[in-house]
Amino acid sequence: TPDHSLQGRHILVTAGPTVEPLDPVRFLSNHSSGRQGYAIAASLAQRGADVTLVSGPVTIPVPPGVRRIAVQTAREMLTACEAALPADAAICAAAVSDWRAKQPAAGKIKKTADGPPSLELVENPDILATLCRSTRRPSLVVGFAAETDDVLDNALAKRARKGCDWLVANDVRQGVFGATRNTVSLIDESGVQGWPEMDKMHVADRLAERIATFFAGSSS
Ligand code: C5P
Repeated sequence: TPDHSLQGRHILVTAGPTVEPLDPVRFLSNHSSGRQGYAIAASLAQRGADVTLVSGPVTIPVPPGVRRIAVQTAREMLTACEAALPADAAICAAAVSDWRAKQPAAGKIKKTADGPPSLELVENPDILATLCRSTRRPSLVVGFAAETDDVLDNALAKRARKGCDWLVANDVRQGVFGATRNTVSLIDESGVQGWPEMDKMHVADRLAERIATFFAGSSS
C-alpha cells in the first residue's frame, strides 16, 4: 500500500561532494559517492514528500519523483538551497568542501622550475549552519558527521555548534565512502541512539520513518 506519511511536506536534501576549481582542469573535492543522500531522497519521496535534492556531481540516477538541482561548488549549493526554501525539513548529507581556492587560475597552472605552486585557500560557507540560522529555518534540520576519532563526543559538539535538531554520526574509519552499508548513531535533544550496521537504503528508510513520526506529532 502506498505510504503518504510525508504528503504535502517539502523536504530539501543535499548530497554528494562539492567540486571547487583550482584552474580550468583541476579541482579540490572528496570521496563522497552521494549514496546515503540519494537513498534518503528516494525514501522520503516514497512516503509522498516533495523532495528537492541539491547535489554535487555523482554517478547515481535521480530517484523517481525527486527534483534534482545539480551544482558543483559549495557556494552554488548554498544558493540552490536558499532558493529552495521554504522547506519543512532539510537533510544535509552532502560532503561539502571546507575550502576553495581563493582565486582559481583563469588558465591551466603551469609546472615551472620554481617548484610547486602555493594554493591560497579560503573557507566555504557552512550550508547546514546557514540553514539552521536562517529566518526561514525548516522546522527540522538534520546534519551528518563523518568522524574518524571520538565519534560521539565530536558528534555531540557538532550538533550544538551547527544548531541542527538531529545529527547522524558515522565512523568512517572502515571505509564507508562508496560502500553500501553504514553504521550510524542518531543524536537528538534526548541523547544518542546507536543503530546496528545496515544497508544505506535501510538507514534512509529508518530516518524517513522518524521524520514522518516527527511531522505526525507536529500540528502544522
Ligand atoms: O563540519 P562537518 O563538515 O563535519 O559537518 C558535517 C555536516 O555539515 C554535514 O551535514 C554536512 O552536509 C554539513 N556541511 C555543510 N556545509 C559545509 C560543511 C559541512 O552543509 N561547508
